[in-house]
Amino acid sequence: MQGICVLGATGSIGTSALEVIARHPDRFRVAALTAQRNVAALVALARRFAPPLAVIADVAQLPLLQQQLRAAGLPTRALGGAEALVEAVLSPEVDTVIAAIVGAAGLPPTLAAARAGKRILLANKEAIVCAGALLIEAVRNSGAQLLPLDSEHSALHQCLAGAADASRAVRRLILTASGGPFRNRADLSAVTPEEACAHPNWVMGPKISVDSATLMNKGLEVIEASWLFGFPPQQIDVVVHPQSVVHSMVEFVDGSVVAQLGTPDMRTPLAYALGFPERIESGSAFLDFLALGHLTFEAPDLSRFPCLRLAYEAARAGGSASVWLNAANEEAVAAFLARRLPFTAIATVIEATLAQAPTTVPRSLQDVLDADAAARRYARALIGATA
Ligand SMILES: NC(=O)c1ccc[n+]([C@@H]2O[C@H](COP(=O)([O-])OP(=O)(O)OC[C@H]3O[C@@H](n4cnc5c(N)ncnc54)[C@H](OP(=O)(O)O)[C@@H]3O)[C@@H](O)[C@H]2O)c1
Repeated sequence: MQGICVLGATGSIGTSALEVIARHPDRFRVAALTAQRNVAALVALARRFAPPLAVIADVAQLPLLQQQLRAAGLPTRALGGAEALVEAVLSPEVDTVIAAIVGAAGLPPTLAAARAGKRILLANKEAIVCAGALLIEAVRNSGAQLLPLDSEHSALHQCLAGAADASRAVRRLILTASGGPFRNRADLSAVTPEEACAHPNWVMGPKISVDSATLMNKGLEVIEASWLFGFPPQQIDVVVHPQSVVHSMVEFVDGSVVAQLGTPDMRTPLAYALGFPERIESGSAFLDFLALGHLTFEAPDLSRFPCLRLAYEAARAGGSASVWLNAANEEAVAAFLARRLPFTAIATVIEATLAQAPTTVPRSLQDVLDADAAARRYARALIGATA
């Protein structure tokens, strides 16, 4: 029986993860659930899964959480604050951590889980983008297990299974991208948050939806794939595949290409990682090839979607560049969602911020947090001047 901690339990990935977990009560026990400030949703999940621990990161919400858990007659212990997220993953009742917080805020508990040798199922791509070296080193040193939840990286993990000496055998990794809601829209100057969040194939949280619309999501995924599978960014290509059925591919030196396919439903990669190395039911629909008709592929348009180019540049630059890229993106996306920044200025803010990134390599969590804070200060000033 695996004890599971879901970081970001009230979000899109968190709730999908709990749906898969609920299908397998013989395998999984919910040991801890966390949220940022949505007490009502956290208490509803606590009623359903009766975890020993519930954490609310916004400490101002802790009294409300305590009161509602008591009113519901639940024995769940409540904690508050960002440090309590780390406490949750370190609980001896937790074997597996589902890292599904959005943004760099998820880094400290994810890194703590890696250092403690836990099994980590990673959706929180910003954590590995900011601190890939630290995270991979911690996993190696502690004997932790790191499995991807992003559908593309889950696909790559499956395509690479059984490849002996992947560094010689693989010619390139090919990440597929849906192209987002604006694949065919020429003028992006008047895009609204509602339009950007209306993804054609996936229902996701607002931040990743905007990232998909700018293609920054794919850029972050290139950096994530580079860390997870140990290939340089120039060996990782992106191809636009609007149907989101082929979730990614690996091309081998003999000319073979191995692809992983499935309906666009995050419960499939969640079930793959939760059950690994076994296969377990996810609740996703099965692919109907005859209904699909055709699958198409095209090149990404880097002039309309410069964020993908910027992510490649950050990956190649090394140093603190990925931290600065991510922080600028988080700030710019938040400003766009708050209608304080036009959609097309997201890339402008990121490019100008990235140009300031120092070449020093962050050696510790504190270095990463400092770089993140410095980049956010710079990006916020730019956004203030633009708004
Ligand atoms: N959604 C997808 O299909 C998908 C696919 C692949 C990868 N991912 C990745 O998975 C992560 C989560 O995405 P999502 O779409 O599930 O996001 P989401 O729906 O916005 O959910 C985010 C979760 O994180 C919590 N949270 C937000 N800020 C926090 C903070 N500062 N400290 C602690 N907890 C915080 C939220 O709590 P509240 O509810 O209280 O705000 C919520 O539980 C992202 O890194 C995303 O890139 C998502």
